[in-house]
Formats: sequence, C-alpha cells, structure tokens
Amino acid sequence: TSYNVGFLVGSISSTSINRRLAQALVKLAPQAQLSLTEIPIAGLPLYSADHDASIPAEAADFKRAIEGADGMVIVSPEYNRSVPGVLKNALDTASRPWGQNSFAGTPTAIIGTSAGALATAAAQQHLRLILSFLDAPTMMQPEAYVRTVDGLIAEDGRVTDPSLAEFLLTWLRAVHAHIAKQGDAG
Ligand code: FNR
Repeated sequence: TSYNVGFLVGSISSTSINRRLAQALVKLAPQAQLSLTEIPIAGLPLYSADHDASIPAEAADFKRAIEGADGMVIVSPEYNRSVPGVLKNALDTASRPWGQNSFAGTPTAIIGTSAGALATAAAQQHLRLILSFLDAPTMMQPEAYVRTVDGLIAEDGRVTDPSLAEFLLTWLRAVHAHIAKQGDAG
C-alpha cells in the first residue's frame, strides 16, 4: 500500500536546513511507498480562541489538509530547546475548535536537524508531549536527530552522505510501517 503523507516544516526561514531535510525525504519517499506533500504553515494567522466561532479560511484549509492525509511528518528545528513558535501556532490551530482536533488518530512521525550536538533532541521531546495531548499516535523508533554540517544535503535535497541517505530511507520505511499499523488498529 502507498500512503499520502502531509508534512509540516517548523521553520519559515528562506535558507532553512530543515526544509532541505524535508526535500531529501521527498526525494527518498517513493522508495518507501510514501508520497510526501507539504502542508504550509507560513500563511496561518496567529491562533486566537476568537477563531473558534468563525474559523479563518487559511486555518480551515490547513485543518482539512491534515484530516485528508494518511499520516503526518513534522520536520522541525529547535528554538531555545523547544518547538519554534510558528510550529506551535500551527499545532494549536490544528487542535481547535474543541472536539475538532485535526490530529486526533493521525499517525505522526517527527524528525529535525540542527548543527548543535543535540540535533533538536530537546525540541522533539516537547513535540512528543504536544502530540500525545493531541491524541496523534507518534512513531517511537527510530528517533531521528540529524546533525547538520555544511554540504550534507544539497539545495535540491540530494544527500551527500550515503550513511545519512540510508538512515533516512530506513526511517521512512518505519513511517510506512507505523501508518500501516495504525490503520490495522483503527
Ligand atoms: C536557534 N538554534 C538552536 N539550535 C539548537 O540546536 N538548539 C536550540 O535551542 C536553538 N535555539 C535557537 C533559537 C533561535 C531563536 C534561533 C534563530 C536559532 C539554531 C538553529 O538550529 C539554526 O538556526 C537552524 O538553522 C534553524 O533551522 P532552520 O530554520 O535552518 O531550518
């Protein structure tokens, strides 16, 4: 079975290394029988509970895209040992109005890259906490902490280090298995 997977990039930087990592995953995904499509977060308004009564069009489109995906991947940097505000805003938007949480039951996997020694490990733990509250079955293993060095991933998403390419493919196959398992359970 092939799955349609949506992905969020937790950075809106024009030179984002996490976007490059996402590009690498898009390139490798067909080998894991996944089709990866970005669900953009940059245009979302800042979430307010006022929106619950009348959901902004951008938020409604965003929620519908998540609900239409077989699974979700979140590719994110770490900001101050946590989740970047733009990503938190997107998750808050997806979670509301109460009772209409778009992540409920959606198999989700997380990955991220930074140049630091922890390679987004602290942010990913916070993200797991958020996703557990959102009732999104989150892939436990393999964890994916990608430490960036210059040139590791080319602008077009080509991975220059064969061992990283092999790891990312293994990770994507695990994402496929995670989605399949949730489908069997549901
Ligand atoms: C960072 N950076 C960072 N890196 C890290 O490993 N742990 C951290 O806690 C932080 N904190 C942090 C806060 C803020 C406000 C910024 C701007 C940056 C560095 C970060 O990993 C680096 O800027 C990456 O390039 C960000 O990812 P993108 O946007 O390139 O995908």
